[in-house]
Amino acid sequence: MAKTKVHTFDAVIIGAGGAGLMAALYAGRGAKVAVISKLYPTRSHTGAAQGGVGAALGNLGEDHWEWHAYDTVKGSDYLADQPAVDVLCQEAIETVIELEHMGLPFDRLPDGRISQRRFGGHTNNDTGKPVYRACHAADRTGHMILQTLYQQCVKNNVNFFDEFHVVDLIRVGDTVRGVVAIQIASGEFHVFHAKAVLFATGGWGRCWEVTSNAHSLTGDGAAICLRRGIPMQDMEFFQFHPTGIFKLGILITEGVRGEGGVLINGEGERFMARYAPSIKDLASRDVVSRAIFLEVQAGRGINGQNYVHLDVTPETVNYYYEKDGESKRIDAAYIEAKLPDIADFTRTYLGVDPVKEPMPIQPTAHYAMGGIPTDVDGRVVLDDQRTVLPGLYAAGEVACVSVHGANRLGTNSLVDLIVFGRRSGRHMAEFCRENELLPLPDNAADEVIAEFERLRSSKGQVRQYELRGRMQKSMTANVGVFRVEENMKKAIDELVALRDAYHSDLVIDDKGHQYNTDLLEAWELGCLLELAQVTAISAVARKESRGGHARDDFQKRDDVNWLKHTLCYRTEDGYRLAYKPVELGRYEPKERVY
Ligand code: FUM
Repeated sequence: MAKTKVHTFDAVIIGAGGAGLMAALYAGRGAKVAVISKLYPTRSHTGAAQGGVGAALGNLGEDHWEWHAYDTVKGSDYLADQPAVDVLCQEAIETVIELEHMGLPFDRLPDGRISQRRFGGHTNNDTGKPVYRACHAADRTGHMILQTLYQQCVKNNVNFFDEFHVVDLIRVGDTVRGVVAIQIASGEFHVFHAKAVLFATGGWGRCWEVTSNAHSLTGDGAAICLRRGIPMQDMEFFQFHPTGIFKLGILITEGVRGEGGVLINGEGERFMARYAPSIKDLASRDVVSRAIFLEVQAGRGINGQNYVHLDVTPETVNYYYEKDGESKRIDAAYIEAKLPDIADFTRTYLGVDPVKEPMPIQPTAHYAMGGIPTDVDGRVVLDDQRTVLPGLYAAGEVACVSVHGANRLGTNSLVDLIVFGRRSGRHMAEFCRENELLPLPDNAADEVIAEFERLRSSKGQVRQYELRGRMQKSMTANVGVFRVEENMKKAIDELVALRDAYHSDLVIDDKGHQYNTDLLEAWELGCLLELAQVTAISAVARKESRGGHARDDFQKRDDVNWLKHTLCYRTEDGYRLAYKPVELGRYEPKERVY
């Protein structure tokens, strides 16, 4: 084996966002755990989640976890596995209370209970009206979850390896033995030898040009697993959040609409009534993103451009809240208190004050519904029989349990990472108690070290950021909010050409070892290109429209042929698709009406 430093733990967790930290807390109760993160933990992308974490606490009106479950299944366009959705929505309640007891500073009602707000697709199942389910800390809910969990991990002596970039999984047959990482500061390779490995590395929104995802969201964990024989599930379903800051893609929380904000087109019209007559601006994200796209396409963008307005100014918004036993219409102070971060973002990046004027927004690539297939304990499953790969786990956005199906409801990403992070951590502790540490293979890091040396010494003509830009343009144009076969095939051809260039014509300017971000970003680009291709291949094969996968050439949902999950495997002969049944439950698929 090339010279590497070896560390030994019971369990290693890759990624220090909400799922990774929750898993670390629970695994740490029975096992020696390390969290390895390419970022400093509190810079993880969970911190960008704004509007709330869904739980049927019923603090502002009647609610039930079963209503939350129905809304989630309906939102998923019936592709979610319903037993897993039940776990999500039932355990959301106790997990949110647990976070509160850890010290998470939720907004409060006058009587001290957690404050809740409305969010898209969350309804009172009897009336169909929006329900108050999103527990929030202003518009910094993810940030607060991250800080709270990190403090708990530090308090409980979890071991952290910050700014260590994991680049390979050590898999021997049907066992896992650990991971390989690069220490970013030194460029040295480290092997983490362990009984159990959990990936909690987040999504890959950076495949697209306009995205709410941070620069670091490059799908590393998913691509590593794909290369080690694990299929990717339901990759065609990628969510476009309706309200990203125009051109920049930075998230403007759905909580704005939860607090009464409305979408307005270039003709000054509240257009959502046309697309979702019942709950209008609070329809599910796939519906709202498509509506914005269609308004722009019909020439009803603002000044004919490709954006619309999100208006939460007190003059426009007819929304009331309770204060001191009285019902009050929202005012500037309320907006500043409930939405401080988005007010700051739009003032800073656009010079727009949301208290006084509407915000220019457009749909932004936001969330991967698909990913590494797992069961409800975070165990990675390999096929349509749900065969478990012992010792390998995934949780959070990188995982596909599947609770989001074809379209995730807002707030359910935070629920997903705390509920399934917790269950995965618990299961890992048990696994580590019952299993011995298996020996490392002699050559554990050689393959990935060779790939890095190939990249470092490459002497072509094209730089990684040029290839990245071309991929992002192609994915946006061809595998975006609306899709059609010809365009998706075009994207696949372009991605194949980009991958050829990546292998034969790349040049890395920095040949050094310390903080070589040029090299690491080139490696990340390899992950993005691969996941983009898997997305396009899975999408072109699915000949129907469902949730976030909207095809102009197959406009209807087709439950007879397509009520099934896609699995995409990487083989020596290219990618191979297979399918596995959806696990149904109480809710028979029916037409979605909002
Ligand atoms: O709109 C938001 O605050 C985003 C939340 C989410 O993606 O769940």
